[in-house]
Amino acid sequence: MKFFVDTADIAEIRDLASTGLLDGVTTNPTLIAKSGRKFLEVIEEICGVVDGPVSAEVVALDHETMMKEAAVLRKLASNVAIKVPLTIDGLKTCKALSSEGVKVNVTLCFSANQALLAAKAGAAFISPFVGRLDDNGADGLQLIEDIRLIYDNYNFDTEILAASLRNSSHIFECAKIGADVITAPPAVIKSLFNHVLTDKGLAAFEADWAKTGQSIL
Ligand code: G3P
Repeated sequence: MKFFVDTADIAEIRDLASTGLLDGVTTNPTLIAKSGRKFLEVIEEICGVVDGPVSAEVVALDHETMMKEAAVLRKLASNVAIKVPLTIDGLKTCKALSSEGVKVNVTLCFSANQALLAAKAGAAFISPFVGRLDDNGADGLQLIEDIRLIYDNYNFDTEILAASLRNSSHIFECAKIGADVITAPPAVIKSLFNHVLTDKGLAAFEADWAKTGQSIL
């Protein structure tokens, strides 16, 4: 399973990239606004830090303008993936860009039928929003399971990029279902490293090592 981080905070991206465990980055207009930085500049900088795909979202609602925006974003770096919304115009754009070999991430997916359409439009990634479905009384993880089944039935290459993940349990469940990629905020990814027994065990080893009076170096 690939790990993407869902942020436009360059310091957080550098920090996670230094672990060697980061496979890509996702952003959206909300995260760009939160960064307080210029969209094109921040995407270019992120692309220089991470080798994998960096999702940059178009903001137009019509196909023609989406294509123009995508042309600007594609010029920033070779690892830019164009993010489009799951609308008719978004999927028209997805079809056109993917036919040119561009990686497209189709976002704001809330149903298995939407995911089916995105795969038919040649999406490299589909982004179902788990947390937002949970927020609205639905079962976000069930959607990941349904999409997995449908994509496997037809051998679609589109990768399931589970998004809007809010906790470590979401990530664990996505791994069990077989999501291809997860994206989550830095704090959620960092929480995966933690276990109280790891901390306790380490403290005991440190204390016992000190009693030996030895040093390795
Ligand atoms: O990548 C989509 C994700 O950013 C949405 O997350 O927590 O705003 O629902 P959230």
